[in-house]
Amino acid sequence: MDKHDLPRYTPVDEHAISRHKRRHRRRLVKSFVLLLAAYALYSHFTVRDHSKVQLLSVDKLRADHAVCSKLRSVPETSNTKRERSARYIPGHGPVLIRNATVWTGEALLGTSPEDAHLGKGYSWIHADVLMEFGLIKLVSAGISTSTLPPNTTIYNAHGRQLTSGIVDMHSHSTVDTLPSLRGWSDDNELSSDITPYARSIDAVNPLDHQLQVIKSGGVTTSLILPGSGNNMGGEAYVIKHAVGVPDGREQISAEDMLADPQKTWRYMKMACGENAKAVYGRLGRDFGPFSRMGEAWYFRHAFESARAHVQAQDDWCSAADRVGAERMESYLPQELEWESLGALLRGQVLLNVHCYTIPDLEAFVRHTNEFRFKVQAFHHAHQTYLVPEILKRAWGGGPPPAAALFADNMYYKAEAYVASEQAGKILYDNGITPVYVSDNPVLNAQHVVFEAAKAYKNGLPYHVALAGVTSASAELLGLGNRIGKAKPGYDADIVVWDSDPLSVGAAPVQVWIDGTPQFEEPVELRKPHTKPLAANPPLENTPVRSEERDIVFTGISKIMIPGHEQVFDSGDGTAVMVVENGTVVCTGLCEAESSSGEARGVRRVSLKDGHVVPPVTVFGSSLGLAEIEAEDSTLDGDNTDESISRAVDGLAFDTKSLDAAYSHGVTRAISAPTFKYGGFKGVSAGFLTGAPHALEEGAVWQDEVALHYTMTKTEKTLSLSAAVGLLQAKLIKAVKANETEELKLEERWLRRVVAGNMTLVVNVHSADLIASLLRVKADVEAEMRSKDDKASNGRLSMVIHGGAESWMLASALAEAHVGVVLAPFLAYSETWDQRRSLTGAPLTNGTAIDILHAAGVKVAIGTSEDWQTRNLYLSAGIAYTNGNGKINEIEALAFVSSNVYDMLGLKEPRDEVVREFVVFEGSPLEIDSRVSAVADGRGGLSVWT
Ligand SMILES: *[C@@H]1O[C@H](CO)[C@@H](O)[C@H](O)[C@H]1NC(C)=O
Ligand SMILES: *[C@@H]1O[C@H](CO)[C@@H](O)[C@H](O)[C@H]1NC(C)=O
Ligand SMILES: *[C@@H]1O[C@H](CO)[C@@H](O)[C@H](O)[C@H]1NC(C)=O
Ligand SMILES: *[C@@H]1O[C@H](CO)[C@@H](O)[C@H](O)[C@H]1NC(C)=O
Ligand SMILES: *[C@@H]1O[C@H](CO)[C@@H](O)[C@H](O)[C@H]1NC(C)=O
Repeated sequence: MDKHDLPRYTPVDEHAISRHKRRHRRRLVKSFVLLLAAYALYSHFTVRDHSKVQLLSVDKLRADHAVCSKLRSVPETSNTKRERSARYIPGHGPVLIRNATVWTGEALLGTSPEDAHLGKGYSWIHADVLMEFGLIKLVSAGISTSTLPPNTTIYNAHGRQLTSGIVDMHSHSTVDTLPSLRGWSDDNELSSDITPYARSIDAVNPLDHQLQVIKSGGVTTSLILPGSGNNMGGEAYVIKHAVGVPDGREQISAEDMLADPQKTWRYMKMACGENAKAVYGRLGRDFGPFSRMGEAWYFRHAFESARAHVQAQDDWCSAADRVGAERMESYLPQELEWESLGALLRGQVLLNVHCYTIPDLEAFVRHTNEFRFKVQAFHHAHQTYLVPEILKRAWGGGPPPAAALFADNMYYKAEAYVASEQAGKILYDNGITPVYVSDNPVLNAQHVVFEAAKAYKNGLPYHVALAGVTSASAELLGLGNRIGKAKPGYDADIVVWDSDPLSVGAAPVQVWIDGTPQFEEPVELRKPHTKPLAANPPLENTPVRSEERDIVFTGISKIMIPGHEQVFDSGDGTAVMVVENGTVVCTGLCEAESSSGEARGVRRVSLKDGHVVPPVTVFGSSLGLAEIEAEDSTLDGDNTDESISRAVDGLAFDTKSLDAAYSHGVTRAISAPTFKYGGFKGVSAGFLTGAPHALEEGAVWQDEVALHYTMTKTEKTLSLSAAVGLLQAKLIKAVKANETEELKLEERWLRRVVAGNMTLVVNVHSADLIASLLRVKADVEAEMRSKDDKASNGRLSMVIHGGAESWMLASALAEAHVGVVLAPFLAYSETWDQRRSLTGAPLTNGTAIDILHAAGVKVAIGTSEDWQTRNLYLSAGIAYTNGNGKINEIEALAFVSSNVYDMLGLKEPRDEVVREFVVFEGSPLEIDSRVSAVADGRGGLSVWT
């Protein structure tokens, strides 16, 4: 895992480290003994015997000599025409996909490279696709039935969009099986910082169900990398997501999954920066690196060792060429420890390097020039957009290293704190290829195509964004001649989508790998056929922000603020919205207001398809309490078993995370203090994300919102059962407490909960624990009624936060009037207690939100990491688009706004006049929309033009 300084769910194996320390000492002793022995041997032979006796095996010398040609060969990405794929397994018949709208992945023949760079010559074409022997045979309109090979299966795409399979060039799936278990955590070989000899294939677990989940997002090929705990993590392998007989393979086998059975290229992973020094650089340890300086030395020392090894081999091979292998007085030097790194220096290995920051990038580029090797891509390359020229200084000529990115997952550690949503676009404009990756399980690779979609939203041209998860990634894997495009001669890895792949909520209706359909009964969502997306020049302009009080927006087509709904004829663009002093004073024709504004010189902003929508309220993020998750000094800190606090006492305003939320239309946040053991503990506060400090009027709109607990094992409650029992005991005690008693803080809040004045929010994913909590709720309510407490009307207000498995109890939750905040919105069995997550079509019929909503449960969309606040409108868009027509736009927007208030029993921020609103160009629920203005009720508004 790459993301955090120490992966939260794969703690560093302390035993491994102390083992390493012992081993290190043992190794020193061993080396000394060996040295003595070697000296003894040396003196024995030199003193006593100079006659030539052949002590070596001639067979082995010859075999060694044969190795020389392998050492010298450099792989080529061959373009020879294939009749069948090396992966093809006889018995799989041809398939014709009829009536598809195809993205081949290439510009039309004859397009100049300059024009292609700009996107000219790229388009969706209507065609049929014929696959045979694991290859795409033909992409052509109206393939006649009479010309088909015998026994061809015909699949009708009904005009749906078709692309090649998605390629994710950064995944830890199968070496970090989900749900995450200690026994299946094999991505970091932490016995040493330098383990170029470790190989991910030796850990690949084909039974990792996440492989199938990822494939359900159209991903057919992934590069399985070792983690980034080490500076040199080891060798990586490209696999396809077809496992065993049901997926068209012969065996459940990692070797059978290799995308290139001929193993043309080898792959390797290295990592710079925070991680290695955090893992190894602990005071009191006798090994490092402790700093970036140390890391550079560890790198150089390893490269130097490999270079010496390569030199020794080359000298041996040249000598053997000259005098004949039989006459060599030693065997070919072969050190397994440096073999793979030697292969890198020989140009046989494609290297991917986790490297965020300028110093890391520069140091690594220095290494490439000192030791003469190439880098395919820098990953997590959040700062590359600032220094594209540094990448061009890397050794090797040809295209500079690419940048493998997340679209908007940033700020979580110091290295990621300088980052930009426009990075992809800036890099592309400066001659660096951006590609988008999942780092599964950091992001669920099922949705890696959504990263490309957001890159498109943020200004990357359509064809580049899509290439960033298909052809560009394939090219960087040295497989650009085989995968990543839908054209004849390529592997028959094909996805037919239910909507444009870069649209919100896009899901495959079927996926083929090597020409074999991968889903037996794929769930297909009911979605209207929409026009494919395309180049969208307005999106490519980076908007400029200004602060205003008065403004006139023209081209308003829809107002979706509850109580003020209006729809205008979107075609003519005559409807306007006049804002004075941050308040909407008129919508519609507004001739008087509009011309009075004009007279006063008020700015007019013309919109295309303007939408005015309620701002988002994010519930249960750490906004305002945490800035850089991995940096303690930027956090409010955690409550323990003993301590409990109010968020309002720790709120910090004016941070980058808050500004990012605000700029995406999230004007209000309800945040709770965090708990040492994960989740939350304490009293949440409601505040405005755009306020400069707490004392500004309205900045904190509610001091105490809800009381939060997390059901997990802690030092005090070693079991989950104890955690539930303790909560129950506290609640019962609160019911029984008498008003005149001196109560501790926590008891006072609990009193308010059982008096019906405050909601109890419980962080929990597991359906079984939720069932227990529903029982607790019933028991406490019985106690409340027996006390005949009129204030509470016998009801405990409860909300489930997390709720990955809550769908299993949808009707019970509805009956108990318990709301659910889904956090994350789309759960994916990352942990054991989320193992029954619904991942959606084509694997499951809907996700948690569909089932909860249908059962009448009040649902809100939350976040599990703060960067996700940027995506809340898009999440609502997914709920709407993938709701099979059962969730309308207003309901979808309520998931990120009014439902939060309803389930907490709070008054919604609803006014006679509209002073809290967000203006979008286009629908906020669609990918090609953009925020134009945010007004949070403080009297002004921020405008992006
Ligand atoms: C025809 O195709 C089916 C399905 O791909 C396969 O099971 C069958 O063996 C094929 N028959 C012949 C004659 O190739
Ligand atoms: C392709 O499918 C679309 C949508 O079902 C349909 O309108 C169109 O007529 C079909 N075209 C052909 C050539 O079958
Ligand atoms: C309430 O608590 C106080 C102090 O513990 C005690 O003196 C009093 O009797 C209690 N009253 C009732 C009604 O239980
Ligand atoms: C609950 O709210 C009611 C009405 O606002 C108030 O009278 C009562 O004292 C509150 N109870 C507690 C325990 O806060
Ligand atoms: C604008 O609003 C602010 C508060 O939001 C208020 O103090 C000010 O007087 C208003 N100005 C006008 C011209 O209405």
